[in-house]
Amino acid sequence: MTIRLGVLISGSGTNLQAIIDAIEAGTLDAQVAVVISNHESARGLDRARKHEIDAVFVDRGAFESPRAYNAEIRDVLRSHGVDWVVMAGYMRLLGREVLDFFPNRVLNIHPALLPSFAGANGIHDAWDYGVKVTGVTVHLANENFDEGPIIAQEAVPITPEDTIESLEAKIHAVEHRLYPEALRLIAAGRVEIVGRKVKISPA
Ligand code: GRF
Repeated sequence: MTIRLGVLISGSGTNLQAIIDAIEAGTLDAQVAVVISNHESARGLDRARKHEIDAVFVDRGAFESPRAYNAEIRDVLRSHGVDWVVMAGYMRLLGREVLDFFPNRVLNIHPALLPSFAGANGIHDAWDYGVKVTGVTVHLANENFDEGPIIAQEAVPITPEDTIESLEAKIHAVEHRLYPEALRLIAAGRVEIVGRKVKISPA
C-alpha cells in the first residue's frame, strides 16, 4: 500500500528531494502529500512546488504558544491524510500535539551515529571530537531531540584525507540513500517497534 508522507523541513530540503526522487524513480512506494516548513524562504518549499506537492509555511510567530503552533501542524498533516511524518532538517522540537496523533509514526534523520553527537551540529561535533567513524541515523522521534528508537544506521569513516567539507558531502550522500531505504522498509511493513528497539523483518 502506498504510504502518504508529510515532510517537515526548515531549510534546503535535499533529503526531501532524495525522497521525491526515489518515489519518481519507482523505487519507493510512497507519496509526499504535503511539505511543511517553519521558514517561509526554505528552499525545500520550492522543491515541493516544482513537483506539484502542497507546500505550506506554518509561522511560529503567528501562534501564541508552542501548543497552538504544533496543533496547526497536526491539522495540516491530518487534512492531507498523512500516514507517516518525516522530519528532514526540521530544526524545532515536535510537540505532543503531533507525536500523540502519529504514535511511532514520526521519523527523523540525524547526521551522526546516535546516541553520539546529538543536537543541531552532529557533523561538526563529530569532526571536532576527532572520531574516526561517524555516520547517519534514521530513528523514530519522541519528545526529546534525537532520542527515539533507531530504524537504520550507516557508518562513515573519517580518513586522514578528509576535510570538514568532504565529510559533510559523504554524510549527505549517505543520508540521501538511507532515508529512502528506511522508508522502503516502512512501506513494505517490515518495521516493528518493540520498546526501545526496532525489529526489521526479513524481506
Ligand atoms: C541533514 O543533514 C539532516 O541530517 C539534518 O539536517 C540536514 C538537513 O538537510 N537533520 P536538508 O534540508 O535535507 O538538505
